[in-house]
Amino acid sequence: MSRAGLGLAALALALAAPARGETPEVNYLLQCQGCHLPDGSGKSGAVPDLKDLGRFLAVPGGREYLVRVPGSAQSPLSDADLAALLNWMLRRFGPAAIADTLEPYTPEEITALRRPPLADVAATRARLLARLRAGD
Ligand code: HEC
Repeated sequence: MSRAGLGLAALALALAAPARGETPEVNYLLQCQGCHLPDGSGKSGAVPDLKDLGRFLAVPGGREYLVRVPGSAQSPLSDADLAALLNWMLRRFGPAAIADTLEPYTPEEITALRRPPLADVAATRARLLARLRAGD
């Protein structure tokens, strides 16, 4: 097999592996980028841009929201993998200052927050964004 072929075979194996035990970056690519896109920019009007995702942490309810939003809560990831993924996403998508202030999610926190599902996602999101704007 050619070198490129070997690389593709390795990628296929990585993609076929169960979600458990992957790095956060691989889990993002496997579970999230289909909607959020590899660079987090999303789809205008349908999937929000993840840029400055950490701004949600500045308002009451925001920390819970990032766990309870369907894309997070209903993913097949374990609580530990979801905690690691959200911590990775917050550092990846910023704001940059988050690297100094982030109190990382723990698996226990994910367990506590993940259920029950968020009843009205759009209204919750709008309320949080309004609070963020009010705080500007
Ligand atoms: C089927 C498309 C889809 C997939 C797959 C998806 N998301 Fe999302 N995500 C959305 C949409 C749409 C929103 C906006 C809130 C809503 O309507 O659910 C969102 C919002 C979010 C938010 C809050 C950001 C904001 O501005 O509201 C986070 C955090 C998030 N998703 C994490 C994830 C994670 C983590 C994964 C993968 C494990 C994931 N999502 C997979 C569509 C998706």
